[in-house]
Amino acid sequence: MRTLITGIGELTTNVPAGDDRTGTRRDAAVLVEDGLVAWVGDAADADMTADEIVDATGGAVLPGFVDSHSHLVFGGDRAAEFEARMAGERYAAGGIRSTVAATRAAADAELRERLHGFLAEIHAQGTTTVEIKSGYGLDVATEERLVRLAAEVTDEVTFLGAHVVPAEYADRGDAYVDLVVGPMLDACAPHAKWIDVFCETGAFTVAQSRRVLEAGIARGLAPRIHAGQLGPGDGVQLAVELGAASVDHGTFLTDDDVAALAGSDTVLTLLPGVEFSTRQPYPDARRLIDAGVTVALACDTNPGSSFTSSMPFCIAVAVRDMRMTVAEAIWAATAGGAAALRRDDIGVIAEGRRADLVLLDAPTRVHLAYRPGVPLIDRVWKDGVLVAGGGSRAR
Ligand code: NIG
Ligand code: FE
Repeated sequence: MRTLITGIGELTTNVPAGDDRTGTRRDAAVLVEDGLVAWVGDAADADMTADEIVDATGGAVLPGFVDSHSHLVFGGDRAAEFEARMAGERYAAGGIRSTVAATRAAADAELRERLHGFLAEIHAQGTTTVEIKSGYGLDVATEERLVRLAAEVTDEVTFLGAHVVPAEYADRGDAYVDLVVGPMLDACAPHAKWIDVFCETGAFTVAQSRRVLEAGIARGLAPRIHAGQLGPGDGVQLAVELGAASVDHGTFLTDDDVAALAGSDTVLTLLPGVEFSTRQPYPDARRLIDAGVTVALACDTNPGSSFTSSMPFCIAVAVRDMRMTVAEAIWAATAGGAAALRRDDIGVIAEGRRADLVLLDAPTRVHLAYRPGVPLIDRVWKDGVLVAGGGSRAR
C-alpha cells in the first residue's frame, strides 16, 4: 500500500537544512509505504501512481507529536482540588495520594477503558508517540498493573514507583525505597523501559533518588527524572551524572543546573500545562535554549498538576509564556520529544523513518500558537495508518 500526501503548503521535516533546524519545505509531497516514509520531495516531482492520493490542499504537515511525559493510567480525578487552587490554594504534590486511593480501587478493565479513551484523545490532537508512567499504585500489585496496562499501548513505559511515599509508609521513606528497589522493581521491570523518580522536597531526597535510579539501571532500565518542579535541588546534577535521557519540569533551575545540562546529552523537558494549571511561574525556555540545552515539550497529563493531553495547547503556552519561537516549540514537541526518548525513528519526516504525520487545517504551523484552542488537527497517521481525522478540510 502506497499513499501519497501531496499539495502540502508547508512541510516541517526536522531534517536540518542550513540554519533551518526544522528543515521546512514548500509545495511538498510525502510518499508513505509499509508504515514508513518512502520519499520526500517537491509536489511537482511526486509519483502519482500511488494506491491512494491525499490532497493536502495547501495545508501544513509536520511530524506527529512525541509526548515524552504522561501519567495516563489512574483512577478518579481531582477537579475539586483544581477548583480550590484556582480560588487561591497552593499546589503541593500531596494530592497524589488521593489519586493513589482511587487507582488502587479501580479494576484493570476500568483503567484500560480509560486509557484507550485518552489514547483516542491524544491521537485527535496530533500525538503519535506517548510515554506513560506508573506511579499511582505505590504498592507492588498496583504498580505492576499500571506498567502492564501501559505496555499494552506503548513501548515507552516508565516505572515510577518512587512518585511519593504512600500513606502507609509515612515517615518511613527509606523503607519505602527498599520496597521500590526490591520486590516492586522485580515485578515492574519486565514491562518497562525507563526508571523515574520524583526528586523533590516532600517526595524523595537526592540520596533516595540515586538508589532508585541506580537500581533501575542495574535492571536494564534507562533513567529519567522529575526535578526542579517545586524548587531548586540536586536532581539535575544527579540526572546528568547518571546519563539520564531527560530531566522533566525544570521550573526552578540554578545556573549550574543549566550549565550541566548544556554540557550533556540530557534533554530538559518543559511541561507548560503544569505551570498553567498550578499557577507557578513559567520557566524561561529562552535562557535554556540560548545556553545550548536541548529542550522538549510534553503534556504531563495527570489528574493533579496538568490535566491536558493537548500538545497544541502546550506549544501555544510555550510560545506565549516561555519565550520559545514557534519553530523552537514545534521542534521541541516533535524532535525534542524523540530526543528525550532517545529515538531517531520518530520526530522527523525523512526516508526510512516512521510515517507518523499530522496534517493541519491551516496553511502554516504558526497557527498552532496563533489560534490557541482551535481544533486545527485535520488528519493524523501513525505508522502510515490514519488514527484520527478525515475531517473538516474540503477536498
Ligand atoms: O509530574 N511531579 C510529580 N508528579 C506529577 C503530579 C502528579 C499529581 O499531582 O498527581 C507531575 O506533575
Ligand atoms: Fe510527571
